[in-house]
Amino acid sequence: MEESTGPYSPIVMDHLNHPRNIGEMEHPDGVGEAQNPVCGDTMRLFIKVERDRIIEATFLTFGCGAAIASSSITTEMIKGKTIEEALMISDQAIGKALGGLPPTKIHCSILAEKAIQAAVIDYRKKVKVS
Ligand code: FES
Repeated sequence: MEESTGPYSPIVMDHLNHPRNIGEMEHPDGVGEAQNPVCGDTMRLFIKVERDRIIEATFLTFGCGAAIASSSITTEMIKGKTIEEALMISDQAIGKALGGLPPTKIHCSILAEKAIQAAVIDYRKKVKVS
């Protein structure tokens, strides 16, 4: 039987062993949560926004290695981007940035894409209210 972490790329392994920007953020401007109903893995993404640009991003993920690596690289990818640019980041782009994901783990990067969208929706709601 193949070990499930076996096919991970060196980039995935690096993010898995040294996750970037992990942890809950105090006073975020937006929080997005995504869950995969099949595996139950959950990703929470926190963003801080200034003049429509994401200046900080952190995550909390309860899930598989690919989900953690996807979250970690996503925080790096969205930092410094405008909200519009962040929304254009697809699961494929996340997978590519990770050096590829095994076919059975593609849904883990989809989780990250969904978390970005959820965080932006939350941010936009808050901006409108304030
Ligand atoms: S196995 Fe479900 S997010 Fe990775």
